[in-house]
Amino acid sequence: MSLSLTLPRWYDLHAHFRQGDMMPSLIKDHLSMGCAGILAMPNTKPPVGKIFKADSLPYWSIEEYRDMLLAAGGDAFDKIIVPLYLTKDTTPAMIKAGAKAGILEACKYYPPHGTTGAEFGYPFEKFIENGVFAAMRDHGIILCVHGEEHALPPETYFARGTNAEEIFYTERLPRAVESFPDLKIVGEHVTTKIAVDFIQSAPATVAASVTPQHLLYTVGHLLQGLKYHLYCLPLLKFKEDRAALRAAVIDPDNVKFFAGTDSAPHAQKVTECGCAAGCYTGGIAPQLYAQAFEEAGIELKNAAGVAAFRKFLCEIGPEFYRIKSPTGTFTFLKNSTSANPLTLAYRE
Ligand code: DOR
Ligand code: ZN
Repeated sequence: MSLSLTLPRWYDLHAHFRQGDMMPSLIKDHLSMGCAGILAMPNTKPPVGKIFKADSLPYWSIEEYRDMLLAAGGDAFDKIIVPLYLTKDTTPAMIKAGAKAGILEACKYYPPHGTTGAEFGYPFEKFIENGVFAAMRDHGIILCVHGEEHALPPETYFARGTNAEEIFYTERLPRAVESFPDLKIVGEHVTTKIAVDFIQSAPATVAASVTPQHLLYTVGHLLQGLKYHLYCLPLLKFKEDRAALRAAVIDPDNVKFFAGTDSAPHAQKVTECGCAAGCYTGGIAPQLYAQAFEEAGIELKNAAGVAAFRKFLCEIGPEFYRIKSPTGTFTFLKNSTSANPLTLAYRE
């Protein structure tokens, strides 16, 4: 059944815009799907690991990357958040200075070597101990977490009884939430029932983003025919996990789970030594989210269904980030006959 929905413009609170020539077309795709703003990931080359250009550290600064995004067409957004990539060089003093200048709003934790562009990540525990999380709490800076345990042997990275995300959400994140109850944390792109349960039972300071692909597919979709365009990290999981994600996002009382596409373009997915992680959903994310809601049993032709969808896509994320509501609406069309997993492929 085809569907036309008019909704308030929305914020994609997790997406990748890379660097160089790719940026304008990626931004254009985001604008084309009604995005009022973006949280632009800092795993660029080089990473966005400092705040001010004048700082001598060998990274891009938030100041510079924001300017690049604006020059590539991002000036059409109401709001751009660039989180600081947390590295071995991040200090509490940097956090304080960035917050005081009003440039720093969020920081991103990457598990070292755990995903695309995560080679500058630094172990999670270090930030509990070195004052960085404490400074973020003191200055109201949001912690965005790629919640996967790093450096696991393959046997536990993805196993029948456990996986990297489950280990992180049972052994790693609880300590941070207990130690810093006033630190706002986003569990980004959650994929497992264990992560969903943790977010739901955590205080109101902890929320989560969910991607279209994790709501739509399971690891079987990736493996059957090795459809590598569905390869992203964290990996797609099992039916029970997808059911937990779907139940969380469609809940009329949902206040914690919001849209963050993790749209992650790769010009070349398959390389000589493996596959690049990331699904590109720029331009089609609202349709994919709508498809997931429909597959979860939500009728998007009635008011209650639309209200749950609007909360997830347009309301909960900006409220958590304390972004003011965007003006204007957008309309998207979804034609069920065009639904195809391979539409997730990167489009030139
Ligand atoms: O699938 C992913 N792709 N997961 C990430 O964490 C990074 C992203 C990318 O940058 O390509
Ligand atoms: Zn990402």
